[in-house]
Formats: sequence, C-alpha cells, structure tokens
Amino acid sequence: MLVQQSSQLKEEILKLKKEKDVVILAHNYQIPDVQDVADFTGDSLGLSRQASTVDQKTILFCGVNFMAETAAIISPDKKVLLPDLEAGCSLSDSITVEELRNWKKQHPDAIAVGYVNTTAEIKAELDYCCTSSNAVNVVKAIPEEKEILFLPDMFLGSYVAKMTGRKNMHIWAGECHVHAGIRPEDVTEKLNSLKDAEFVIHPECSCTTPIMYDVADGSYDGKKVSILSTEGMLNHVNQSKSKNFVVATETGILYKMRQQNPEKIFIPASEKAECQYMKMITLEKVYDALVNEKNIVTVPKEIADKARLAINRMLEVS
Ligand code: 13P
Ligand code: SF4
Repeated sequence: MLVQQSSQLKEEILKLKKEKDVVILAHNYQIPDVQDVADFTGDSLGLSRQASTVDQKTILFCGVNFMAETAAIISPDKKVLLPDLEAGCSLSDSITVEELRNWKKQHPDAIAVGYVNTTAEIKAELDYCCTSSNAVNVVKAIPEEKEILFLPDMFLGSYVAKMTGRKNMHIWAGECHVHAGIRPEDVTEKLNSLKDAEFVIHPECSCTTPIMYDVADGSYDGKKVSILSTEGMLNHVNQSKSKNFVVATETGILYKMRQQNPEKIFIPASEKAECQYMKMITLEKVYDALVNEKNIVTVPKEIADKARLAINRMLEVS
C-alpha cells in the first residue's frame, strides 16, 4: 500500500475507533501499520489482561484466532472482532480435543496445563492455562507430587521442565512451524556476524532445547542469552546496556524493538521466521471489521465457562 494511502487509512481507523468506542489490541507480531493503530500491543498474557480490564464494549483483536477467542472467553459481555477469521495457528492445530481426552484418560490423576495457543475447546479440558511468560510459574504452583500433562508445545515444555526440575511432566509433541523453523545453524551464523551480540530467544524455538543447558548458567558460547516471551524480550532489550542483539522469534517483534531503541542493532536469527497467520491482518481488514463490525468471534457459553476457569487460574498465578 502507498504511504499516503496507509496514513489516510490509519487516520480513518483512529477516528472511527473513538467514535465507535472500540479498543484495538495488537500482538507484537502484527505488521507495523497495524501496531501503529493499536491502543495496546503486547504478548498473549498482556493482551489477555488488557481484554479483561478495558472499558470499551468492543475489542478489535489484531492477532490470531485463539487470542481473540481468549478475549471472548474472558469478557463474555464484550463484542470481539477479528479482522480475518482465517488467521489460525499451526501450534494450536497440533492437538485435537479427542487426542487430549485420550491423553487425559491415560493419566487420570494428572493436571493438564495448556499453552494459551490452543482452541477454546481444548482450554475447556484444561486445569491451567499458561503463556510463554508465566509457564514456569504456573507449573511451580502445582504440587510437586502431581503428574502434569503439558501441551501442545514440546520446546516450551522441555524449557519449563528444565527450569522447574520437574521429572513428572509429560509433554505433547506439538510445535509452531515458525519457531521450529529457526535452525541452530541460523543462530550460530547470526551470532558470529554481530560482535558482542546478546541473544534473545522465544521458548517456542526448537533451538531452545540444546541452548538452554548453557543458558542455565547464563551464557551460550560466551554470549549473554535470555529466553523470554515477546513482551519479556521487549522489556529486556529496552533496559539492557548491550548495543547488539540477535533475536530468535517471529520477525514482527523487531518493529517495536527498533522503534523504542533507535541506537541499538537488532537482527533476526532467521529472516524467514514470519507467521503467515499473523500477517493476514492488514490495515484494510482492520478498517473493514471496524466499519462493518464484522467477523465477530464467539465461544459457546458451555465451553467458555469451563475454559475461563483455566484462564483465571493462570491469571491468579502470574
Ligand atoms: P507470546 O505470548 O510470547 O507473545 O507468544 C505468542 C505466540 O504466538 C508466539 O508464537
Ligand atoms: Fe501460532 Fe507460531 Fe504464528 Fe505464534 S508464530 S501464532 S505459535 S503459528
């Protein structure tokens, strides 16, 4: 889109959201134009919290389907709009409700902990929900003798098991295609190319597993390494004294990092780490959803009521 067209559209959106009393929430992976019109940007946990506290009766969620569903579950009396209903998530698709029910049958006494990247139906089967920023604390809050079923991300699961020292955690073998696609070779190449770079990494990355053993003692190949959620990454780079950073997650995060730290250098661990689902949300679709109040995300009451318990338990812990 031409710059002039996009700034006109942004102005229209900003005007309309005020007139219609709509709040726009955008995930950190959204395209820059969409982040620019948002009232709040953040990670899954931050946006869930915002969804539960905002005054507006309509939430326009710029993210993927499970995030909008989570907002609808937390705020059942609000209208939640998603600019493109096809914006899914490969990680949330990696477990079906039947598979989870069978898994639970095999471990009847286990506590089911599920990442927020799951469908509402899956959340309704969980004891606890968690996000990348609170998964360790959620697992720590569960009595040690209790078996845990952790789903669906295997890399986040092994990270949590390592950080908590838990031996009784069963981990589902799901993955996000974007993060799993960031290869250790990409990381090594980028770290070698940027002198004195700090390495920030999302726990969904497949390269987390070999790296985290070194991370436990604070360094990876002599580099400073931090495994964080997307908002955790932003907070970390904002307060760090380092100048150079290699960032292992979806590349959308770089927009705010660079905007908030113009004097620092950020390079992606892999330029290919783009989530096509997150990128389905465009300024035109945001405008369209706002004008026509369309693409309403709803969750049946019976499922929402059960799923809310797991989400609220998570919000209480973190
Ligand atoms: P965050 O909660 O860290 O923002 O992660 C969400 C997500 O979808 C990562 O791929
Ligand atoms: Fe899902 Fe991966 Fe996209 Fe995040 S980056 S929304 S986990 S597909």
